[in-house]
Amino acid sequence: RKGKTPEEVVKRYLQKVRNPPEEDCTICMEALAGPSGYKGPGVGGISRAESVGRLAQCGHQYHLQCLVAMYNNGNKDGSLQCPTCKTIYGVKTGNQPPGKMEYHVIPHSLPGHPDCKTIRIIYNIPPGIQGPEHPNPGKPFTARGFPRHCYLPDSEKGRRVLRLLLVAWDRRLIFSVGTSSTTGESDTVIWNEVHHKTEFGSNLTGHGYPDPGHLDNVLEELKAQGITEEECLSRD
Ligand code: APR
Repeated sequence: RKGKTPEEVVKRYLQKVRNPPEEDCTICMEALAGPSGYKGPGVGGISRAESVGRLAQCGHQYHLQCLVAMYNNGNKDGSLQCPTCKTIYGVKTGNQPPGKMEYHVIPHSLPGHPDCKTIRIIYNIPPGIQGPEHPNPGKPFTARGFPRHCYLPDSEKGRRVLRLLLVAWDRRLIFSVGTSSTTGESDTVIWNEVHHKTEFGSNLTGHGYPDPGHLDNVLEELKAQGITEEECLSRD
C-alpha cells in the first residue's frame, strides 16, 4: 500500500454515503451533513458526493477529510483504526525502535503452572535517535532496564501467545517511545499495550505469577492490536 496517497488509503476502507445522517462526526464534532472541521493541507478537492464515508466493516461514519487528517497524524503505515470501536483496517504497525527479541525454554515451572517448563523472552533495545514516527524526531531516546526478561508458561496456550508476540514484534507493537508511567521519564522506550510478566518466581511488582487470567488478557490485548491466530494464518 506504500506509494498511495493518504486519501487513497482511507478510501480503500470506505463505502459511499449518499445521505449523511443527522449526526456529528466524532472526529471534528461538526455535523456530518456539513463540512469537516479539518481543512489541513492535502485534504482539499474532495467533492460533496464523497465528503462522508462509512467504514466498511464496523459501519461508523466520518468526514473523509477527518479520516485523512487522522491518518496523517499517525505513522502512515497503510492501516486505519476506527476511533469509535477500534476496528482495524489493514495491518496495524507501531513505532517500536530497532532491537532484538529472543526466547528459549528454561527447565523450571512458574507459580500457577506446575506441569510445564517456562519460556523466557529477552528483549533488547539500545538507546538511539527518534525517527519521524516518534514524539520528538531527531531527539535521543533512552532505554532503561534492558535486556528485559519476560516469562510465559511453556504450555500449548503459552506457545500460542509466544507466536503472536513474535508477530507483534515484527509489526513493532511491543514497545513504543514516550513517557514512562512508572518513572515519569520522557523520550524513553516504554511497554506498549501488551502486558508482559517480568518476574519469575515472585510477584512483588504485580507483573509476576501466579495470574490465572494472564494468557487470556494478553490474547485480548493482542487482538486489540489486530493480532489473532486466524488473522495471521489468513495473511500467510
Ligand atoms: N513489568 C512488566 N510490565 C510493566 C512493568 C514491569 N516491571 N512496569 C510497568 N509495566 C506495564 C504497565 O502496567 C503498563 O501497562 O507497562 C505498561 C507501561 O508502563 P510504563 O511504566 O510506561 O512502561 P515502562 O517504563 O516500559 O516500564 C517500567 O518495566 O520492565 C520494567 O525495567 C522496566 O522498570 C521498568 C518498568
